[in-house]
Amino acid sequence: MIKTELPLLQLRHRQLLPIIQGGMGVGISAHSLAGAVAREGAIGTIASVGLAIHHPDLYAKTQRCKDRSIIDQANLEALDREIVAARSLAAGQGMIAVNVMKAVDRYPEHARQACESGADAIIMGAGLPFDMPDLIKGYEDKVALIPILSEERGVRAVLKRWMRKGILPDAIVLEHPRYAGGHLGAPNPQDINNPRFDFKRILVEIVNVFESLKIDPIPLIPAGGINSLERIKEVFAMGASAVQIGTPFAVTREGDAHINFKNILLKAKPEDIVTFMSTAGLPARAVLTPWLKKYLQREEKARERATPERAKCAIWAECLTHCGLKDGTPEAGQFCILTQLEQAVIGNVERGLFFRGSEALPFGEEMRSVHETLTYLLSGQMPKLA
Ligand SMILES: Cc1cc2nc3c(=O)[nH]c(=O)nc-3n(C[C@H](O)[C@H](O)[C@H](O)COP(=O)(O)O)c2cc1C
Repeated sequence: MIKTELPLLQLRHRQLLPIIQGGMGVGISAHSLAGAVAREGAIGTIASVGLAIHHPDLYAKTQRCKDRSIIDQANLEALDREIVAARSLAAGQGMIAVNVMKAVDRYPEHARQACESGADAIIMGAGLPFDMPDLIKGYEDKVALIPILSEERGVRAVLKRWMRKGILPDAIVLEHPRYAGGHLGAPNPQDINNPRFDFKRILVEIVNVFESLKIDPIPLIPAGGINSLERIKEVFAMGASAVQIGTPFAVTREGDAHINFKNILLKAKPEDIVTFMSTAGLPARAVLTPWLKKYLQREEKARERATPERAKCAIWAECLTHCGLKDGTPEAGQFCILTQLEQAVIGNVERGLFFRGSEALPFGEEMRSVHETLTYLLSGQMPKLA
């Protein structure tokens, strides 16, 4: 195991390196990345959504298909294959988690498949995961439950609801909307700088929640913009037990996306990284590449024109429960998010949507391995340039 002066994370009687590689859809964190991270003794996460893109036989079944059950089945089979492959790469080290987004229409089936395929943990965000314990019935002993939340109110509400079911989270990820990549846990882009999301504040507030609910402390795991040992030490000093890191892992050699995807993230300057309203009705952070630039130019008009009468799903997959395009809701984005994210993972620079966190990457524009990334983050030692 990589040497670190940081305390290890205790989860389900296992001692783990205190880093979760965040789930990144569509297809950005699949078996190769999650397996490599777990093999080092940390937690590698597969994002459950749209994994058929990595399996040509399954992906072919989903194309121009108007039978929803065939599309769903192909994606579940892809998730099973990815979990099995990641477990094999991990060779019994670390943990393999599956990230399930509450905003995805088939999230209960994804959570169930994760349990059946042998995931060690389910990490659920993009919505309040009140029903997470119900989804894993029969697997309580095998699967750790880790919700992703962004503010004290949400943590308190989830804990109260779960306590009524007699279950508590194994850990809680606290994602800061000012820094994270992908969908953000704030009501709108103007709200992301609100001090209620700050790690220093929320870590204290949640300890107070534990005390007021009379429960033992649960490991708290900040996420968003954590890119060095100094930053990790800072949040540990505030009371964190581990950190979740996304963008720095997306650009590793083992990352499951096309090289063009990694280069877009690696080369993005701070002024190229923007926050906008996603079709899921949440703000999102991405690199301003050609497709996003064009979309943002016509966004206002597209949102003004949106009505439920004119709305329809562009691809029959109906991936999100609530989608601005499918439902014709002007408050949300007006594009097909699955199409755009699929184009990104296969490296289409013109048409893709490239999610990215806001902060600098540990090795600048250099692409490194998972081992080098974890070594740098955990020991502070910069590996020599190749
Ligand atoms: C390309 C990309 C895709 C992401 N997709 C998801 C996702 O599908 N589900 C999720 O819960 N979080 C997603 N995230 C958020 C990450 O898991 C992670 O929490 C966040 O990016 C942490 O911030 P950092 O990138 O600054 O380390 C994504 C982030 C990126 C960069």
